[in-house]
Amino acid sequence: MRIAVVPGDGIGQEVVPAALPALTALDEAFGLGISHDVFDWGADQWLATGVGLPAGAISRLARDYHAVFLGALGDPRIPDMAHGRDILLGLRRGLDLYVNYRPIVLKHGVIDLYRENTQGLYAGVGGSIARSGAVTVAIDECVYTRDTVEGFVRFCLGRLREQHRRKVTLVHKSNAVPNTGRLWQDVFWRELEAFPELVGSEEYVDSFCYNLVRDPTPYEGVLAPNLFGDIISDIGAALMGGLGLASSASICPETDFALFEPVHGSAPDIAGKGTANPYAAAMSLVLMLDHFGHGTAAGLLRDCLTEAAGSEAATPDLGGGGSTRQFMAKVMELLDRKLSALPDLPTP
Ligand code: NAD
Ligand code: IPM
Ligand code: MN
Repeated sequence: MRIAVVPGDGIGQEVVPAALPALTALDEAFGLGISHDVFDWGADQWLATGVGLPAGAISRLARDYHAVFLGALGDPRIPDMAHGRDILLGLRRGLDLYVNYRPIVLKHGVIDLYRENTQGLYAGVGGSIARSGAVTVAIDECVYTRDTVEGFVRFCLGRLREQHRRKVTLVHKSNAVPNTGRLWQDVFWRELEAFPELVGSEEYVDSFCYNLVRDPTPYEGVLAPNLFGDIISDIGAALMGGLGLASSASICPETDFALFEPVHGSAPDIAGKGTANPYAAAMSLVLMLDHFGHGTAAGLLRDCLTEAAGSEAATPDLGGGGSTRQFMAKVMELLDRKLSALPDLPTP
């Protein structure tokens, strides 16, 4: 299994190298056959050469790799985030990673949040007109195709059934944005007919956010169009205890290619201080191991991360005094202990 590693910008360059040794340790212990190459796509390269995602990168990734592990993009020197759209949205769209799984892990259980990841307001359809250097008209179209919504809904309902979830909520805003809203409602209820185990409901996104913050316990599976899912995943991260804890997997159901990344950005306010929480990045590796069927390895790393987050090595965002390195040193120590306690190396 070949992984393309893209640390990116800011704390991406801190949390990705910090988290990777955990993957290497599990690879060696279980003989998973994982190798990785690092790509320096990001703000520095963009500013130096004007290149974001290099020509041919998408076909090379699709041909030679199984997954991408990404840190974050975003740099104060590029305030319009042009490079981030080119690289991050370029990867999501170019590799057709239209399912974005962003679990909200809470004390009472997990909310399986699925965000559509390539269309809607992120479809890249729009433009603007400027007069004397000032924008006078600006358009970003919300575009959804039936194929993508159907594929997304069907895949997510299948995953929810596999996980023995009982309830699924569609989030939309069809009262104000009726065309794409109605498409989502129609597809959702039609597809749900094939999943009698799941009880469906729908909520307007504003009211959903209100309810989620007041009491998240009723929710099990949540399906959201792109921008709504982006916003809900940050609210979910706040409920979890911070962006340092939220991880994600972007998946193409047809090819199984996937991109794993923390939900957070490059955090320029703490970049370079060595205090960024690597938990979310490392937990993205847990999602990667799970995605490729290495459940035992995934479970071990998940347990070590949870234990380290409750220890004195926790980073400041969690109220601890640990640095990025100290936190991962704790994780590696726990992992070593668990690996050497294994009776015989099990098949992954
Ligand atoms: P952000 O997620 O980078 O940071 C928000 C807040 O959370 C900051 O106070 C930050 O210090 C804190 N935080 C985030 N991750 C943390 C971690 N691992 N440990 C401790 N604290 C953490 O969001 P922002 O400040 O709005 O965006 C910064 C840049 O990142 C922007 O350029 C934005 O476009 C970009 N961004 C990129 C991604 C991505 O690459 N997927 C996601 C979100 C934002
Ligand atoms: C995320 C980010 C990205 C998004 C930005 C940086 C384009 O906020 O991954 O959550 O909107 O998807
Ligand atoms: Mn976001």
